[in-house]
Amino acid sequence: MLEIKNVSTSYGHVEALRGVSMAAHPGEIVSLIGANGAGKTTLLNTISGMTPARSGQILLNGVEITRLSPEKIVNLGVCQVPERRQVFATLSVRDNLTLGAYTRMRGRGEPPIKDRKTLHLDIETIYAMFPILKQREKQLAGTLSGGEQQMLAIGRSLMGRPKVLLLDEPSLGLAPLIVRDIFEIINCLREIDTIILLVEQNARAALRVADRGYVLETGRIVMAGPAADLAADPAIQQAYLGKQGR
Ligand SMILES: Nc1ncnc2c1ncn2[C@@H]1O[C@H](COP(=O)(O)OP(=O)(O)O)[C@@H](O)[C@H]1O
Ligand SMILES: [Mg+2]
Repeated sequence: MLEIKNVSTSYGHVEALRGVSMAAHPGEIVSLIGANGAGKTTLLNTISGMTPARSGQILLNGVEITRLSPEKIVNLGVCQVPERRQVFATLSVRDNLTLGAYTRMRGRGEPPIKDRKTLHLDIETIYAMFPILKQREKQLAGTLSGGEQQMLAIGRSLMGRPKVLLLDEPSLGLAPLIVRDIFEIINCLREIDTIILLVEQNARAALRVADRGYVLETGRIVMAGPAADLAADPAIQQAYLGKQGR
């Protein structure tokens, strides 16, 4: 379980998160919605240790990770797919996936993947999830479309067998049909028993796929609940779903 307790994060004098508390469980998709600048990326960066919290606590399965280095946090199984999907452009699709297994090799006391067969099986699992990546296996990642790069970024994270997957705006800049594909894939990720925290400006799609949701406004959680309840809430509809309140 991932617990965030009363976390505040600042950039100098700018307080980007103010007393944020939330929780997420394995096998659950939790969406965090909010406008541009609300603090969504800051929250993910705070969890992953890139922008440490000024105060508050973050616990993974009861162990405090608040002040650990980003490297230690990755090694504990927290994996972030950053905004604008950063794949290794000059490496092939397959090599990108292989590198995704690297944290697992050194991190968690699991045996290194000298075992080429395990690596191969894991890559095949990712290809089963994203058949287009198999077709593009030898292609350089930089030549993929935006949607394919997003799939590769997610696939690479899954190669590390994460306990927590932090997805930052996976639909950003993608065509509607591709967005649908990406959300279908995210929906399937529920089955791998990982904690999934999904950050999105696309509130409609994010609430549709999630079990629960939180709404972030200028660094504060202003609403939380089952995703279906949030999607049905007139204030949320008006502010985030482009519907007029009745
Ligand atoms: N590196 C930074 N330095 C200073 N301010 C920042 C930095 N990154 C983000 N901010 C500010 O923190 C607030 C939250 O930003 P961010 O977490 O990126 O929001 P979101 O991801 O919801 O769009 C914004 O006001 C933004 O301008
Ligand atoms: Mg952001």
